[in-house]
Amino acid sequence: MARRIRIFDTTLRDGEQTPGASLTVDEKVSVAKQLARLGVDVIEAGFPAASPGEAEAVKRIATEVGGAKGAPAIACLARCVPADVTAAAAALAPARRRQLHVFIATSDIHITHKLRSSREEVLERIRSCVAQARRLVGPDHDVEFSAEDASRTEIEFLLTAFDAAVEAGASVINVPDTVGYAEPKEFAALVRQVVRLVGRRAIVSTHCHNDLGLATANTLAGIGAGARQVEVTVNGLGERAGNASIEEVVMALRTRPGRFGGATTNVKTEQLTASSRLVSYLTGIAVQPNKAIVGANAFAHESGIHQDGYLKNALTYEIMTPESVGLSGSTLTLGKLSGRAGFDERLRAIGVSVDPDELDRLYAEAISLADRKKQVTDADLMALVEQHADPVPQLVELEHWATASRGGESSSGNVSLFYGGQTFRAFSGGNGPVDALLSAVDNALEQIMGGRPRLVDYGLRSIGSGEDAQGEATVKIAASAGDEVPMVFTGHGLSTNVVEASLRAYLAAVNKLLAEHATADPAQPVRPAVTASTEDAM
Ligand code: KIV
Ligand code: ZN
Repeated sequence: MARRIRIFDTTLRDGEQTPGASLTVDEKVSVAKQLARLGVDVIEAGFPAASPGEAEAVKRIATEVGGAKGAPAIACLARCVPADVTAAAAALAPARRRQLHVFIATSDIHITHKLRSSREEVLERIRSCVAQARRLVGPDHDVEFSAEDASRTEIEFLLTAFDAAVEAGASVINVPDTVGYAEPKEFAALVRQVVRLVGRRAIVSTHCHNDLGLATANTLAGIGAGARQVEVTVNGLGERAGNASIEEVVMALRTRPGRFGGATTNVKTEQLTASSRLVSYLTGIAVQPNKAIVGANAFAHESGIHQDGYLKNALTYEIMTPESVGLSGSTLTLGKLSGRAGFDERLRAIGVSVDPDELDRLYAEAISLADRKKQVTDADLMALVEQHADPVPQLVELEHWATASRGGESSSGNVSLFYGGQTFRAFSGGNGPVDALLSAVDNALEQIMGGRPRLVDYGLRSIGSGEDAQGEATVKIAASAGDEVPMVFTGHGLSTNVVEASLRAYLAAVNKLLAEHATADPAQPVRPAVTASTEDAM
């Protein structure tokens, strides 16, 4: 009988720990909805004790995604600290299926230097916090225990810790390679020992980081050694070099079933590309072109010999089809007379299913784009869909902009913004039209909110090719004052005019920042939310 591997997606927890990848609560809910469409078994939605925003995100995902019949289980993280476990259980409560994830470090390096504790104390904390988690979630849900830095933990102590966790009520035992130190043979041997000890009493799980580029290989080795759950992220996001990527692990199992004892997953692989793009879009973290499965070049054939072979028979150079990961590769010619049904079919072919109202809105925008562009391609459609999936509050609206720019001279820009029933006009010079306009927006924001945001990153890419291709600008900003690790807000703007795309992207990010900090009162300067320090009691 086929062995089904439980896919535990931690894009919204470990993935969000990627530097610069912070998501707003609305953005997290959008990603969680896509993960449900992708068919993951468990969504780790966050770390409630880390901040009120994290707790709210977990609660909303537990309600809006985890509350539905047949929905994935919702998980969230807690340190072995009673208040963390209480906060995690409360945030998960609306979900039909819950997985409370408790962790503590077990390696001597971490126990001595980070926790400044002892093995005995760590064992005691495992027993009490896992038991507390079990009491709070009851017998019908999962309690997961992770031994942080398991792969560098002395094996006898690691097994003692896992045994204690199972005795206290853990139903999932996770083996993290926290610093990506293991290599596949040694990781498989480790997982095998854990399976031998607790495999009849709990599900054994892997959690591999990619510091040596081995996260996927180690995860697959873990499956070969008997792991029944794997922790992965979309696009391999995660702390430092990231985690094992869902697309690589799932497609390896699908493409080489014989190598993994026929292990399968519930993932709808045709949703992989849409998931990758959405996560990249909302985090503003681009996928490298040569990334396996979801990179722009993953199915491109450049050299003459390869193209020749591929055209004779795709099997020569393709081990999986682009369609199997949700890439249709075709272009759509949309015109005013194109029908809604054909449009819907095109969306489905690129892994997008929307409700009828959403379909109407997207259709109207695509037709209006078809007025400005010769050909509306799948890439254009994807960009439209992504914009719709990105909930941008409309607090500040762009009324008007103008810029003047000439070679060899500085540029000027003026904008008028509408906010709180009033129009704010501002002017600025700058080093080019985009700089001038963004500075003019900053001058208007000074009047609106008593401060200006800090530009963290700016990028522009072309959607498709051709002289009428749309430009998509991505802007990242942070509030100018406050926290040491400020939250970063990502905005996008899409237009056939790249200056307008840039301005729209900037305002989208500003609106997210304003909404997050709820500075609806113009007299209040913008301050970033202060995130509670979670380092001290780790
Ligand atoms: O990498 C790690 O050890 C973790 C644990 C919290 C599971 O992310
Ligand atoms: Zn991790």
